Amino acid sequence: MNVVSSVAEVRAQVKEWRRLGLSVGLVPTMGYLHEGHKSLIVRAVAENDRVVVSDFVNPIQFGPSEDLESYPRDIEADARLCESAGAHLVFLPRPEDMYAPDFCTYVDMRGLTEGLCGKTRPTHFRGVCTVVSKLFHIVTPDRAYFGQKDAQQLAVIRRMVRDLNFDITIVGCPIVREKDGLAKSSRNTYLNAEERKAAVVLSRAVELGRSMMEKGERSASVVLSAMKGLIEKEPLARIDYVEMVDAVSMQPVTQADGAVLCAMAVYVGKTRLIDNFIFEG
Ligand code: PAF
Repeated sequence: MNVVSSVAEVRAQVKEWRRLGLSVGLVPTMGYLHEGHKSLIVRAVAENDRVVVSDFVNPIQFGPSEDLESYPRDIEADARLCESAGAHLVFLPRPEDMYAPDFCTYVDMRGLTEGLCGKTRPTHFRGVCTVVSKLFHIVTPDRAYFGQKDAQQLAVIRRMVRDLNFDITIVGCPIVREKDGLAKSSRNTYLNAEERKAAVVLSRAVELGRSMMEKGERSASVVLSAMKGLIEKEPLARIDYVEMVDAVSMQPVTQADGAVLCAMAVYVGKTRLIDNFIFEG
């Protein structure tokens, strides 16, 4: 497995793979890799001849008061995980490799990006769409892999690929959870012992909402108030949002007629965590 930091090195390697007729998968990450990322890499390795993992804490998807500086990093552990999962190339650019000082071109999307996480993070998806477009242009993969935990991000990327005619298949992969149900996230590392226990309230709310819908409940307000009620009983938790939206358009629904996404962002202490489930109807 090779670790490279320049765009030119990635391009040269991919060019060589293409010359040999090999397919290429891309797993975009911000590093501090865990089992959730590993499941994406393992899937990519199973479905492609060669796999590139990008490891880049993308500054432009963080708001001014967010955790860019404190975002956890461990490049050596990341390389070990990529190697053990079977990746072939890790692309580890420095911010200056990705953004020239006079960088001024962004990929922006309306609609899908305005609700849910977009409400409290108004510039986040512009940063995500921009960096993912750049990675797509640099790596030119056949397939790219994203976790379902960031459900809005996955929907946004699928739409961007359609709208901008990227010839890339987007593969969404299931949420990987800790034993007690907490969705794996690099940000779980911010939680102290007490907060870590409290954080299980997110997956409990997911289970509750899902089981209500499986039993036939279709009213968004009934499902959401039960989920919110459960979260509000946890003193360390503070709801940012708990919403039911159409699974494709990300627009709020009052009734689950087709496929819907039930998504939440909840602060546990100072850490903002997300979780969700999709109900196909
Ligand atoms: O999901 C992430 O880790 C990031 O948003 C992504 C897709 C790697 C873009 O920086």
